[in-house]
Amino acid sequence: MENSSSPLFWEGASVLITGASGLVGKAMLAKLMSGEIGRPKEVFVMLRQKKGSTGEDRLHELIASPIFDARRSAQGSDEPWHPVASGELVPVPGDLEEESLGIPPTIRARIVKSCTVVLSCAASTDFNSPLPKARNINVHGALRMLQLAQECHARQARSGLRAFVHVSTCYVSANIPGHVEERLHAPPMDPEIFLRMKDEELMEHAAELTSGFPNTYTFTKCLAEHLLHARAFSRDGAALDTLAGRLPFVIVRPSIIGCSWRSPQPGWMDSLFGLSGCVLACGLGVAQKMRGVPELITDVVPLDTVVEAILGAAVCARRLKAETGSMPVVHACTSSLLPLQMQDVADGINSYFTQHPSSTKQLRACNLEWVNPDGKAFQEEMGRLHWRASWLKRCYCTRRLGAQLAKAGSQVTKMDSAFVYFWTNEWIFKSDNLAEMPSLLQECGEPMQHYGGLQLSQLNWPYYLELFCYGMRVFVLKEEDAFCPIDGPKKNSITSRATASLRWNKVVTAVLFTLLAIFLLWRTFALKDQDMNYHYHNRSEF
Ligand SMILES: NC(=O)c1ccc[n+]([C@@H]2O[C@H](COP(=O)([O-])OP(=O)(O)OC[C@H]3O[C@@H](n4cnc5c(N)ncnc54)[C@H](OP(=O)(O)O)[C@@H]3O)[C@@H](O)[C@H]2O)c1
Repeated sequence: MENSSSPLFWEGASVLITGASGLVGKAMLAKLMSGEIGRPKEVFVMLRQKKGSTGEDRLHELIASPIFDARRSAQGSDEPWHPVASGELVPVPGDLEEESLGIPPTIRARIVKSCTVVLSCAASTDFNSPLPKARNINVHGALRMLQLAQECHARQARSGLRAFVHVSTCYVSANIPGHVEERLHAPPMDPEIFLRMKDEELMEHAAELTSGFPNTYTFTKCLAEHLLHARAFSRDGAALDTLAGRLPFVIVRPSIIGCSWRSPQPGWMDSLFGLSGCVLACGLGVAQKMRGVPELITDVVPLDTVVEAILGAAVCARRLKAETGSMPVVHACTSSLLPLQMQDVADGINSYFTQHPSSTKQLRACNLEWVNPDGKAFQEEMGRLHWRASWLKRCYCTRRLGAQLAKAGSQVTKMDSAFVYFWTNEWIFKSDNLAEMPSLLQECGEPMQHYGGLQLSQLNWPYYLELFCYGMRVFVLKEEDAFCPIDGPKKNSITSRATASLRWNKVVTAVLFTLLAIFLLWRTFALKDQDMNYHYHNRSEF
C-alpha cells in the first residue's frame, strides 16, 4: 500500500474528487487540505467548464474561497499557498455528461496509474431537471465514475483502489416513507430498461415513471444506486475480483444538509440551495406560513457530519456492515439517532431571528408557522401577500416594498412546492453504520478529535439551529454584526437598530393601510351621495 509507513489513511493518498465546487465537495476538499486527518500527496479535482471558465480557472477561484483560509494561514506569509503549482491539487477538466467523463486521455491515464481513493460527489441537485438531463448526470455520470474507479482498481503495477465512495441521498426511498434500512430497496422500475429508454420516451412518460417520487432528482439517484450495484457486483452476488480483491465501494446517503456544526467553522454555509434557502426565507420573514406537519420528525444533518461520514466511509470501506453480495450503505442522517421535530425547526428559526433580525435584509417579522398540508391556509396567506404587494406597488413610497413582497411570494410558492412532500411525510433512517463509524475509525488509528462531526450524541439541536441562523447571516448575508450563539448573549447596536427599524416599518405600513382604508370608505360614500343626488334630481324632473 502507498502509505504503509503512516497509520493515517489520508496521508500520502492520491484522491480524485468530483463536485468540489458544490456545498459538500468544497467542505470535503477543505477538510482534506487542512491536513488534520493526514495530508494527501495529491488531489485530482474534476470540474467542468462553466460560463466560459475552464475547470482549471474554476479551481483557482475555488481555492480563493474563505473556506481555505485556515490552510492558507497555516502556510505562513513567507511561502504563500499555491496548491496547483505545487501539485497538491491537480485540475481535471471533466463533465459527468460526457463519454469517458470528457477527461483528456493523458490526465485519465495519470489518474488510473496513481489514484487510490475516488470520492464521487457531483450530481445534478436540481429537483426538477428534465428526466433525460437528470439521467445523464445522476445515472450515466455515476456509472462513468464507477468505470474510472474500476480502471484504477484493476491496475496491475500497484495495489488497487482503497475506496470508491458514491454520494447518494437517503431520499432514494422517498417513495416509501417510514423506517428505512441501510441497504438497497426495491427499485421503482427495471433499472436496465430505464437506462435504455430514449430521451423522447423519458420525456413522454416522465410523470408515470417518477410517480411516487417527489422529483426527478430522487428518482434518478435511486436508480443510479441499483445500476452501480449491478455493475460493481457480478450476478451471483460475488464482487468483481481484481488483483487487489473486492472493489471497496461504499454508498453514503446524507439527508437534508444544514450548516457546519464544528468544522471548518461553526455555522459555515455558503449555499442557498435546499434547507438553507428555506431557513433564510423564513428567518427574513419572506415565508411566514409553510405547509408542514409540526409533529413529524424531519432529518437535518450538519455539513461536517456528512463530510466526515464520506471521508470516514472511505477509511472503513472494508469494515462497514453490508448485506451479502452488496456494498455497505451509510445513512448520514439524524432521525434515528437524535430525532428533531418540524416544530423544533420553526421554534429555532423564530427564536433566533426574532431576537436577532437581519441588519440588512429583514423583510417582515420572522414568524414561521407550519400550516395544514391541504393548502387552504397556505393559499390564503399567499393571496394576502399578493394583495398587499399589489397595493403597495401602486404608491410611489411603498412600491419597492411591494415589489419585494411580490418576489417573496413567488419564492415562497416555489419553495413550498419543492419541499412540501418532505415536510408532510416522515422517514426514520436507521444509521447503524454511522453510529459505528467512530469506533471503526479509532480501530484504524485515525485522529478522532478531527472527526468531531460524527459525535452526534453531543449535538444540541436548539444550539445548532441558532448556529444555522447565525451562519446564514454571517456567511450568506455577510453581516458581520450577527449574534453568534457560541459567544453568549450580548447586546448588538446594529441588530437593535434593525429591530427598531423593523418596528418602524410596521408602523408606517399600518398607517398607510389605515389612510388607504379611510380614502376608500370616503370614495364609496361620496359616490353613493352623488348617485342619490342624481336620482333625486332626475326623479324631481319628471
Ligand atoms: N445538499 C443536500 O442537502 C444533499 C442532501 C443529500 C444528498 N446530497 C448529495 O450530496 C452530493 C453533493 O451535493 P451538494 O449539496 O454539494 O450539491 P451542489 O452544491 O448542487 O453541487 C453539485 C456539484 O456537482 C457538480 N456537477 C453537477 N453536474 C455536473 C457535471 N455534469 N459534471 C461535473 N460536475 C457536475 C457541480 O459542479 P458545477 O459547479 O460545475 O455545477 C457541483 O460541484 C450530491 O451527490 C447530492 O446528491 C446533497
